Amino acid sequence: MTDAGEHRNFYGRTHGKTLRAQQKADLETGLAARSLHGVTREENPARAPLDLSFTGGRPLWLEVGFGGGEHLVQMAARHPDIFLIGCEPFVNGIAMLLGKLRDGRLDNVAIHPGDVRDLFDVLPDGCLSKVFLNYPDPWPKARHHRRRFVTPGYLLPLARACAPGAEFRVATDIPDYVRQTLEEVPPAGFDLVSEAGQGGAWEDWLSTRYEQKALREGRVPHYLTFRRKG
Ligand SMILES: C[S@@+](CC[C@H](N)C(=O)[O-])C[C@H]1O[C@@H](n2cnc3c(N)ncnc32)[C@H](O)[C@@H]1O
Repeated sequence: MTDAGEHRNFYGRTHGKTLRAQQKADLETGLAARSLHGVTREENPARAPLDLSFTGGRPLWLEVGFGGGEHLVQMAARHPDIFLIGCEPFVNGIAMLLGKLRDGRLDNVAIHPGDVRDLFDVLPDGCLSKVFLNYPDPWPKARHHRRRFVTPGYLLPLARACAPGAEFRVATDIPDYVRQTLEEVPPAGFDLVSEAGQGGAWEDWLSTRYEQKALREGRVPHYLTFRRKG
């Protein structure tokens, strides 16, 4: 598993509650089978572009920060004709996703158990046709806003890896995150396609754990869709 803090500052949690025995077993056995090879600096010090032959020629989608993996599993099950990479440094979340994948039905999911920036380093130009960013960490304090995903340090590498016309979906419950997303994503090379409030989610959306928490706490979802220029 990548130590995200080794060469880049990662400010989120990488570990939570003590893992159950089954979760430990899933991490020991299931993760190796689903992990992408050639992403970490140890495996790929030259940062050579990944060989994407594992997709079998299917369009490549990415989910950044999949949390418990419920949205990712639903997308992969609903779209067997695409290949989906999920990226998440939080070990408990990875274990939850592996539990959902244990029956082996889905052959179109791979995991990068670390920081998405390490993956951006090695994704070939223009390889992604859809990207999901569901409830990214809000970093509410103004002095922490530069840690947000919707800043050039994340958005420019994302734009490079997106094919012209690729869709970029952002869901958030934080009004200031909507503001910053609308300000920062277009200059990175995307056009705004739609901006919807509660009730306006995508047709194939599956509400995530974080969204359920936000709704319980009275916050309102926003769903933003962008398209890569080109
Ligand atoms: C607020 S949680 C939302 C989780 C899930 N998408 C949901 O909606 O329930 C944000 C997630 O993004 C992950 N994350 C934060 N920074 C990341 C990074 N640089 N690369 C990949 N994932 C990241 C965190 O570990 C966390 O699980």
